[in-house]
Formats: sequence, structure tokens, C-alpha cells
Amino acid sequence: MAKLLDPRIEKVLITQKQIEDATTKAAKWIDKNYRNKKPILIAILKGAVPFYAKVLAKTTIDVQTDFVIYTSFAGNVKSIQEPKMVTDLRLDIRGRHVVILEDLIDSGKTLKSFIGVLKKRKPASVKLMVLCDKKCKRTVKIDADFVGYDIPDKFVVGFGMDYQEYMRNLPYVGVLKKEIYETNLAKINRRNKK
Ligand code: IMP
Ligand code: MG
Repeated sequence: MAKLLDPRIEKVLITQKQIEDATTKAAKWIDKNYRNKKPILIAILKGAVPFYAKVLAKTTIDVQTDFVIYTSFAGNVKSIQEPKMVTDLRLDIRGRHVVILEDLIDSGKTLKSFIGVLKKRKPASVKLMVLCDKKCKRTVKIDADFVGYDIPDKFVVGFGMDYQEYMRNLPYVGVLKKEIYETNLAKINRRNKK
């Protein structure tokens, strides 16, 4: 039986079927571009986990996996600090082909900063794959090499994306109802003005 829509969700933006389609396409993209290159697929925790896992299981070439926590978010609806490395990679990426998988690119600050850190380690190449792209929110110049879906300027949750660490387990990507975060957002804005 189909699950009921979570009451905190205003609207589903990316359905489970669309997630299947995008992740199949993403895996084929990796297979095609990295045959015999043994790339390192990097997931940025935690949001990228469901997207990463699905794509990983659909790839057929030899890949290695690694994970980082690199974030500017503190569990709210706006980034409130400079992005930083919280947990680093285990593998040495020097001379290796690196593919970053991320749930969502918004302002682009997190990924731009993370890619800058990786490039200092002299990888053979760095490419970026995202499930969702909020192009209208970009404040720095950065483009993903693979985009699942372009999405509008709405706060979204599900399939890895969270609001205060919740709702990452929704099987679709949906727009969070404003009333869920409005009071909180007002508090953050007040705090940021101080
Ligand atoms: P950026 O540095 O502004 O591009 O922020 C990227 C990160 O912010 C994403 O990887 C998400 O973790 C988080 N983020 C941005 N917008 C949303 C959203 O609408 N829902 C949930 N997380 C978001
Ligand atoms: Mg993220």
C-alpha cells in the first residue's frame, strides 16, 4: 500500500519513480565516463547518503567509496557559518579521479569550498553530481557536471535532505510546509541581526 503523504509536506517535488530514473541515469553517466579509471565516489554526509547508495548500487564499473562531513549547516533552514571539514576522507586522492555526490546544491558555497580543499590534494580530476539543483539560489560560480532535477527556491526535505535532522527518511523529495519552520526562522534571523 502506498504511504500517505507526510502531513508536514506541502507538495512532492520528486517522486520515487523520478528518483529511480535519476539514479539510473547517474550510474550510467559514471559507467560511461569512468570505465578503467577506478574513480573514488565521495558522499558528503549526511544528506547525500540515499542518493549515493542508490547510484552506487547501480554502477557496474570498479569504483572505490569514501565519505566526508563538510558542512555549513546547523540543522536549520539557512546556512549560518562558513563550511568546514568535520570528518575527512580516508583515501588519498592524489592522482585519482574523484566524483562527488551530493543531495542538493543551493548557494554553491559548500561545494565550492569543498572542491577547493580537494584540488589542493592534486587529484587527476574532480566532478560533481547532484540530485537537486536550486540554480536560482547560486551566489558563487559553480556548476554540477550531472544534475538529477532542477528545483525551485523552496525548502525541501526527504531522500536524505533534512529539517533539523528529521525527514531524511521520506522516500521522495518534498517541499516543507512553511508553518513548520517559520517560527524557527524568525528566531534565527533575529539572532543573526544581533
Ligand atoms: P549551499 O552551500 O548553499 O549550496 O548548501 C548546500 C547544502 O545545504 C546542501 O547540501 C544541503 O545539505 C543544505 N540545504 C540547502 N538547501 C536545502 C533545502 O532546501 N533542504 C535541505 N537542505 C538544504
Ligand atoms: Mg548536504
